[in-house]
Amino acid sequence: MYTRGLNPTVQVVEEKIALLERAGGARLLGSGMAAITAAILSAARNGDHVVAVRSIYSNAYRLLNGYLPTLGIATTFADFTDLDAVEAAIRPETRVLYLESPGNPGMHIVDLEAVARMAQERGLVTVIDNTLATPYNQRPLEMGVDLVVHSVSKYLAGHSDVVAGAVAGSEKRMRAISANEIRDLGGIIGPFEAWLILRGIRTLGLRMQAHNHAGLAVACRLAERSEIERVHYAGLPSHPQHALASRQMRGFSGLMGVVVRGGMPAAISFANALRLFGIGVSWGGFESLALPMSPEDPAMSPELGIVPGFVRLSIGLEDEADLLEDLDNALRGIG
Ligand SMILES: Cc1ncc(COP(=O)(O)O)c(C=O)c1O
Repeated sequence: MYTRGLNPTVQVVEEKIALLERAGGARLLGSGMAAITAAILSAARNGDHVVAVRSIYSNAYRLLNGYLPTLGIATTFADFTDLDAVEAAIRPETRVLYLESPGNPGMHIVDLEAVARMAQERGLVTVIDNTLATPYNQRPLEMGVDLVVHSVSKYLAGHSDVVAGAVAGSEKRMRAISANEIRDLGGIIGPFEAWLILRGIRTLGLRMQAHNHAGLAVACRLAERSEIERVHYAGLPSHPQHALASRQMRGFSGLMGVVVRGGMPAAISFANALRLFGIGVSWGGFESLALPMSPEDPAMSPELGIVPGFVRLSIGLEDEADLLEDLDNALRGIG
């Protein structure tokens, strides 16, 4: 046997992720997208149909909307904040409900228990991308969801030095995924990446406490600033689903969306004026990041809250007071 089939370092990390997610088993893959692909293809075949949350990671949107139709798997995107809309989107050939909660970057919340019940009654498989919450803040399998996927590149590894994914679920489901999608599609991870994840995951609890605390402090501060039109963060009482998020999550992480008054030029000036934030796409690490996002990207849209001026902030592990001061200074600069 060699690493494509079995590796002891990889196995140690898989056992830890299974324990964290309260799963019967977990498998590591070469990226979050490889994990998403393996999970969906484990439950949907040619002729099948997926109902997916509209507010999802942009490449997952492209996979469902662009690539999977070429394999005969169609997707309807629905507003999962409205369970009647989900029900209406389900067809006789539907096999999978694909979820992300909170959704990146609009921060919409799905009622996981209600959706899992709806799926169980109809024999559908539920898959959730739990990257944003992490198992520290939310454990979907305990709420009846069938499969959890992660971009381990983000909070689980936590140091922005590895690209990896994970799938977790019951022993039976994981045996089937291992014997089919993981072996045959080949999204294998190497032991060096697994070792980096092992180092990172040991501080997951401490890091998430810090991200939760600083994330909430930043969201509260920005919600008070006149230069900011809107803050999308489920930890704020003003979030339309704050009560639901508080029921199913222990904290709200460090990721949020803010809308800067003045559209894209103001969003770019704000991001450039920040001294402690880098500009970059792969969030969930130790360093804070800002990313102006365009509503013209087909995976985004104004109906998801991605309007001109939208900036995604990932709050890292720097000193919280320093971050608040940096944000205040940057906003004063554009005002
Ligand atoms: C919510 C979410 N899921 C999945 C992914 C994909 O992860 P990876 O880059 O490890 O393929 C990302 C990456 O940005 C993400 O934000």
